[in-house]
Amino acid sequence: MEDRKTAIVTGASVGIGRAAAVKFAKEGYNVAIIARGNGIHDVGGEIRKLGVECIDFQGDVGSEHDVKTMVAQVEGKWGRVDVLNCNAGIVVVKPLEDTTWEDFVNVTHINIGGHFLFTKYVMPIMKRQKRGAIVNMGSVSGHVGQTEHAIYGSTKGAIIAFTRAVAWELAKYNIRVNSISPGSVDTPMLRSDIQLESTRTGMPFDEVKKLREHEQAFDRWADPAEIAEAIYFLASDAASFITGTDLLVDCGWVAK
Ligand SMILES: NC(=O)c1ccc[n+]([C@@H]2O[C@H](COP(=O)([O-])OP(=O)(O)OC[C@H]3O[C@@H](n4cnc5c(N)ncnc54)[C@H](O)[C@@H]3O)[C@@H](O)[C@H]2O)c1
Repeated sequence: MEDRKTAIVTGASVGIGRAAAVKFAKEGYNVAIIARGNGIHDVGGEIRKLGVECIDFQGDVGSEHDVKTMVAQVEGKWGRVDVLNCNAGIVVVKPLEDTTWEDFVNVTHINIGGHFLFTKYVMPIMKRQKRGAIVNMGSVSGHVGQTEHAIYGSTKGAIIAFTRAVAWELAKYNIRVNSISPGSVDTPMLRSDIQLESTRTGMPFDEVKKLREHEQAFDRWADPAEIAEAIYFLASDAASFITGTDLLVDCGWVAK
C-alpha cells in the first residue's frame, strides 16, 4: 500500500473542486480527480508539478460505470482512499414554472446521484481501512429559500440529509462524513449564474454581482481557495470529533 494519503476530488477541472485538489496536493496527498471536460488533464499536470501523483479521470459522476472504473483505478494504483471530497454539481436558476422535467432530472441525477455513487463505491475501501473522511458539497441554497433555486436548493438539502444519515451508517468504521455549505464563491458556475440573471432582468452584470456580494457580511464573494481550506479541515484529523455536520462557509449569509 502506498505511504502517501490519497484524496478523491470530484468536479475538479475548475472552481472549488480544482482549489480543493490543489490544496490536498500541497498537503502531500496523492490526488485522483474527475470532471467531464478535458480541462481535468490540465489540473492533473498542475498537481503532478507539486510533487505528488495524480489520476486525472475524464468522466461523469452521474455514470455508475465511470465512477466504478475510477475508484477501481485509484484502489489499484494506491490501495487506499483517505478522503473523498464530492464537489461536482450543476445549477439551474429559473422560475419553477419554466423549469423543465429534463432540468429536474439532470440536476438531481448529477448533484445527488454523484454523491451517492462515489460514496457507494468508496465506502467498502474505507470500511476495510477502518478509517476515512468524506466531505460533501451542500450550499446556502440548502438552508435558505433562494428565489429561482427551488430544484438546485432541494438537491443541496438532500445532500445535507444524505450526509447525516451516512455519518451514522459509517461511524462504527471510524469514517467521518460531513458537508460544507458555501455562500457565493467566485467560480465559473457563479459567474454564469449572474450572467443569466443579468440577461433575464436586464440589470447590468456588475449590478447583479454587487447585490449578490451584499449577501455576505464582508460584502464580497469567497475565493475558491477559502472553501478548499474548510474542506481540508473537515477531511483532516484536526476534525476528528466532527461527523454528521454541515459547516456553513457563507460569511454570515444564513446567520442574518
Ligand atoms: N460557486 C458557488 O457560489 C457555490 C456556492 C455553494 C455551493 N457550490 C457548490 O460547489 C460545487 C462546485 O461549484 P463550482 O462553483 O466550483 O462549480 P463550477 O461549475 O465552477 O465547477 C463544477 C465542476 O464540476 C464538474 N462537473 C459538473 N458536472 C459534472 C459531472 N456530471 N461529472 C463530472 N464532473 C462534473 C465540472 O466539470 C467542474 O469541474 C457544486 O456542487 C456547487 O453546487 C458552489
